[in-house]
Amino acid sequence: MKVVAINGSARAGGNTRILIDRVCAELGKEGIDSEAIELAGKTIRGCRACRKCSSRKDERCSMGDDDLNEILPHIYSADGLILGSPTYFADISPEMKALIDRSGMVNRSNDHLLKRRPGAAVVAVRRAGAMHAFDSINHYFTINQMIIVGSTYWNIGIGRDKGDVEADEEGLQTMADLGRNMAWLLKKLAN
Ligand SMILES: Cc1cc2nc3c(=O)[nH]c(=O)nc-3n(C[C@H](O)[C@H](O)[C@H](O)COP(=O)(O)O)c2cc1C
Repeated sequence: MKVVAINGSARAGGNTRILIDRVCAELGKEGIDSEAIELAGKTIRGCRACRKCSSRKDERCSMGDDDLNEILPHIYSADGLILGSPTYFADISPEMKALIDRSGMVNRSNDHLLKRRPGAAVVAVRRAGAMHAFDSINHYFTINQMIIVGSTYWNIGIGRDKGDVEADEEGLQTMADLGRNMAWLLKKLAN
């Protein structure tokens, strides 16, 4: 079993990634593999609304001039999905939004490849707006017939500079609990 975690931050290895890694560490303890993909340094443009994905049905986006198609097979082959984003102006990063729009359209055009797979949002925030970002990601899971995994608090970690989130004990605990819950659900679904 494998979980794919996407970090939508423009800053690779920052607070969002630290939170994601905390979830993945718990998955690992439960024998579940994970793969983290950084969007930083990649180009993921916004959806052009060409609707070609719904006529071609080839599990790809027709926009072949950026990095999305390289990521799509990782998303669709995962048993579980984590979408992580920093809070930018009380919402998700533009890269994560573009990935959500385009991978969501391709998913829906191909008979809901992600149907009934567990999904979890992870959000880093300095001060405010994290709930909105968290909700934005959860909209992806619900429209794609996925199952949202919960934790002991909403999946948010607090910090501004790279590494600050390490001091947010409750945030890290929330991620650990999330990892354990996701592992539990994945094992139930596999039976
Ligand atoms: C463009 C931009 C917008 C931001 N907007 C917010 C915001 O609305 N609320 C907030 O609390 N922090 C905001 N922040 C701070 C980041 O959410 C915070 O530093 C976060 O830990 C970054 O995660 P990262 O290290 O994974 O990039 C913003 C940062 C940037 C670069």
